[in-house]
Amino acid sequence: MITRCIFLLTLFAVQFVHAQNPLFIPDTLNGTNFNLTVQNGTTQFFPPSNTPTYGINGAFLSPTLFVNKWDWVTMNVNNTLTGNGNSTTMHWHGLHLPAMDDGGPHQLILQNTTWSPSFQILNNAGTYWYHPHGEGKTDLHVSRGLAGLIIIRDSAERALNLPRTYGVDDFPLIVQTKSFDILNQIAISTAYDTVPMVNGTIDPYVTMPAQVVRLRLLDGASDRSFMFGFSNNMPFYQIATDGGLIDTALAMNRLRLSNGERAEVLIDLSGMQGDTVYLMNYGSELAHGIMGADSVGDANNQMPDYYSNYLNGADFNLLMIIVGAQTANPVTSIPTALVPVPQINIASATVNRTIVFDTLSEQFTQPNLAEGPFAFDREFFHMDSINQTVYLNDTEIWTLINLTQVSHPFHIHDIQFQIVDINGGPVPANQQGWKDVVLVPAEDTVRFITTFSDFADASVPYMYHCHLLHHEDDGMMASFIVIDTLTSVMENYSGVDYTIYPNPSSDQFIIGFDQSPEENVLIEMIDLSGRVVLQQICSGGNTQVTLTPTVESGTYMIRISSATGSSTKRVQFIDQN
Ligand code: C2O
Ligand code: CU
Repeated sequence: MITRCIFLLTLFAVQFVHAQNPLFIPDTLNGTNFNLTVQNGTTQFFPPSNTPTYGINGAFLSPTLFVNKWDWVTMNVNNTLTGNGNSTTMHWHGLHLPAMDDGGPHQLILQNTTWSPSFQILNNAGTYWYHPHGEGKTDLHVSRGLAGLIIIRDSAERALNLPRTYGVDDFPLIVQTKSFDILNQIAISTAYDTVPMVNGTIDPYVTMPAQVVRLRLLDGASDRSFMFGFSNNMPFYQIATDGGLIDTALAMNRLRLSNGERAEVLIDLSGMQGDTVYLMNYGSELAHGIMGADSVGDANNQMPDYYSNYLNGADFNLLMIIVGAQTANPVTSIPTALVPVPQINIASATVNRTIVFDTLSEQFTQPNLAEGPFAFDREFFHMDSINQTVYLNDTEIWTLINLTQVSHPFHIHDIQFQIVDINGGPVPANQQGWKDVVLVPAEDTVRFITTFSDFADASVPYMYHCHLLHHEDDGMMASFIVIDTLTSVMENYSGVDYTIYPNPSSDQFIIGFDQSPEENVLIEMIDLSGRVVLQQICSGGNTQVTLTPTVESGTYMIRISSATGSSTKRVQFIDQN
């Protein structure tokens, strides 16, 4: 009895010293109709300090959404954020859906409005996530707490003997590092993301049963890649990449994830009841040039304060795992065969596209290849430009050429892709499945192949961007549209230059022509599903026309068509009645 007491006391002492906080497990939402209220809150990361945070249906982070493949779902995203001009958006990262439902920077959710896209779940079972994507605001909104998982189930996944009891043998692990200022407020765009957290919990511990357990890892950090491993160096088994299950479980003892990437892994804790093991970040093993490694850049290209952040290049604990009792009906073995991933045939690609990652150096006498600012193809993101036009159902190979000294995690919306090669060499086994993020190493080249199927929209673009959030916010982002040559009219330049103001507007839009058009032009206001809600003719010789819409608040397109073509601009209407 005495020995037992001493044992327990030691156990408590150890826990107290190393890990004080029970791991937060985000709530779950199920069904097909999801009400997501984006709200302000307060979280005590460093009691008694109150840190202002953002959350969905709570003060910090967002519930985990469970959906089934083939279901039609509706997401009611209500933006109740306070603060001046705090519009947001909500992007379903990794999901294959129409551009207008994608939640990129063009699907603005104004304050006190609700955006309700409906779409069908077409992705395979896997771990996806959702987060805001507002122009220049992604880092702020994600860092303050807006991020949640989407777990898709399907019949192929259900047929396997895998752990799938959420929070019992199947754990969501949103891994982040954050910066706090001296008043314990979350800061962004600093070099000091020195506070690791899992599911928003600092120094977390969790009890997991002594059996096979599934971990759904997301690198949800703004700025840092992780090299996951366990303190006892036990092997673990990757079973899924960004886009779902892979062919076979892959044994490994290190797994690197970059910003936005997910992996599902199995760990076998059988026979370990009473043991403690740590999920670690082995930052010292990240290659040079990766954010979080011991070095980025060279003598002439430095990132300010990078070496003052003591987490860079360091190995540190992320999560203390206490192995508890087995559950009833435990999974006790690692399945070998999972779900076959059909490989896209390289020879089927009909389009090759190249994206160059570079600094916009004309602003600097000495471009800083480690600090940026970075851009694709020497252009910063612009809301009104379309950078690539893709034709529906084309299979394309994209070549990503990184001329900089930082490794950038490249993410593309709409589709999942397969990596063809990395710097001409083979793709590691655990990156051969479906992906929507790939880390393009510093001064390296990555190629991927994909087919742009199902969704075309001549006016609403999808995004591709660096998932280092301040790179994205600073303009390392671009857009593409997918065009169906059978059904959509190409948006040609109409030959008529015009401006629309005010925009946003709550009563009318004035369309002013730089030069009065010689012939009649047709002006149409179109909603996001393509319905014309207002039509007007501006006869030749006039210089301006006023549109007075009677429509609901939201995003609309104004299309100007002349004899030579048409062009479309986006407007925001705020209905005050
Ligand atoms: Cu996770 Cu375009 O974003
Ligand atoms: Cu980047």
